[in-house]
Amino acid sequence: MVGLGTMGSGIAEILARSGRSVVVVEANDNALARGLAALHASLDKAVARGRLTHADKAQIIARIRAADGLAAGAAGADLVIEAVAENMELKRAVFGELDLACRPDTILATNTSSLSVTALAAGTRHPDRVAGLHFFNPAPVMKLVEVVSTVLSPPGTAETLAGLVRALGKTPIQVGDRAGFVVNPLLLAYLNHAVRLLDVGYATSGDIDKAATSGVGLPMGPLALLDLIGLDTSLSILEALQAELGGSRFTPAPLLRRLAEAGLTGRKAGRGFYEYQRQSVHAARADDTVHHMASQPPSTVVLIEDGAAPLAADLTSTITEAGIGVARPPAAEADLILVAATPARRVLDAALACQSPGDAVGIHLVGPHAARPALAELVITHLTKASAVDAAAALAAKIGLESVTTPDRPGFLAAAMIYPHLNDAATMVQDGYASAADIDTAMMLGCGYPRGPLEMLDDIGPAVVLGVLSAMHASSGDPAFVPAPLLAEHAAAGTRFRC
Ligand code: CAA
Repeated sequence: MVGLGTMGSGIAEILARSGRSVVVVEANDNALARGLAALHASLDKAVARGRLTHADKAQIIARIRAADGLAAGAAGADLVIEAVAENMELKRAVFGELDLACRPDTILATNTSSLSVTALAAGTRHPDRVAGLHFFNPAPVMKLVEVVSTVLSPPGTAETLAGLVRALGKTPIQVGDRAGFVVNPLLLAYLNHAVRLLDVGYATSGDIDKAATSGVGLPMGPLALLDLIGLDTSLSILEALQAELGGSRFTPAPLLRRLAEAGLTGRKAGRGFYEYQRQSVHAARADDTVHHMASQPPSTVVLIEDGAAPLAADLTSTITEAGIGVARPPAAEADLILVAATPARRVLDAALACQSPGDAVGIHLVGPHAARPALAELVITHLTKASAVDAAAALAAKIGLESVTTPDRPGFLAAAMIYPHLNDAATMVQDGYASAADIDTAMMLGCGYPRGPLEMLDDIGPAVVLGVLSAMHASSGDPAFVPAPLLAEHAAAGTRFRC
């Protein structure tokens, strides 16, 4: 195992846990000590949770040996996995040395996230033994491994690696050598877009992550996930994707670049989008700490339907069940005006039509299960008063929902963040890059999605996603939001991506 950073230590742990002898190589003693400490900490956590005994841990550790230099470490290996920093020159240097040190039948695998495996292979004397073996972070937990073949690989190499992946209790998917393979072009574009939303003040970091978890059902918010992957690693992947695939979705958000340049690379540095202390996580930006000051829920609200009659009917019963009176316009006396909002339609028009637009807040309920919303998106126009936002947040809490605030732009927050991601997945199917089923499996096993993006898209409805994306494109002019032609075709035909 060459490189014992976040990924390397996790991969070394899995290999040793499977009973294999692992030789680890690092550039210097400090990096080696850090990597081994991370490995010990991960095993200690497993012992504390009762997943391993102390004796198991001792046996696993006994299978791991640190080598004195790359050539000495790799000489007797059947397989070398490289997981050094995402830098082509560095990786080329490592592969050059491995090429000379290893037996001709040793498989040389790179855990690169986005660099060309073919270019690495081509720089060696035996390019047919070079392949990609791309694990996901945290490597001991995530089930997917992308096995990457190049045009120079004989079929046997990928088969051998896929067999190893299965023996490690994980699921291989075999992919060609295209930048980012299947998962990263989808994942990184979405994460990058979330940083842009933060950067332009569209929403706070806490609200962005809450929209992804409570609103969409993902296991982590995009900013917390970037902190886990590492902002420096994410930046390198985006740059590689941008160089090979082009398009604005991969142009790194300026804030991501600045944080990486400042050394605020996420969990490993103790700070990225959030600050990490031993037991707790804090927002690293002050804006999240002043969010939604405690306020009393209103005793009466006026609810405006604005073309969302079923939603307004559901809201009425939920709000009245919580002991809050609901009046219909034009009621003169109310503490708050709520507009039942839909993400392709502006709240401002309904707000302007009422007597005091500053008291009007749009409300849109979302959640991973359409029938059970978990999150209230509170849509604020540029006229909305802070007191109205506070009252709406208190109302959301009273009816048992988390809330986020979002500007009055198409998609509001959850859809504005996720629908372009679903569109990217539709484009990937359309371009024959991977099948809808494979994409869904990859995102579920690699990133812990409860449903894959195409199943999500089908459940929401291609026509709904198309409508919101078209509105996003019309309002921003950003070509990244142009709906995929295949999405428009499914919407027109009323058909699904997943059969
Ligand atoms: N190392 C080892 N084990 C870990 C771990 C780590 N770093 N983090 C969590 N775990 C284990 C826990 O010990 C626990 O194990 P048991 O069930 O055996 O007790 C299990 O994972 C669940 O952990 P928690 O209960 O603490 O936390 P959780 O339920 O919130 O899950 C998570 C944590 C698994 C990370 C989950 O939030 C998740 O799936 N997040 C998405 C992660 C993701 O998307 N990864 C892919 C990133 S992209 C990438 O890596 C590719 C690239 O090239 C950039």
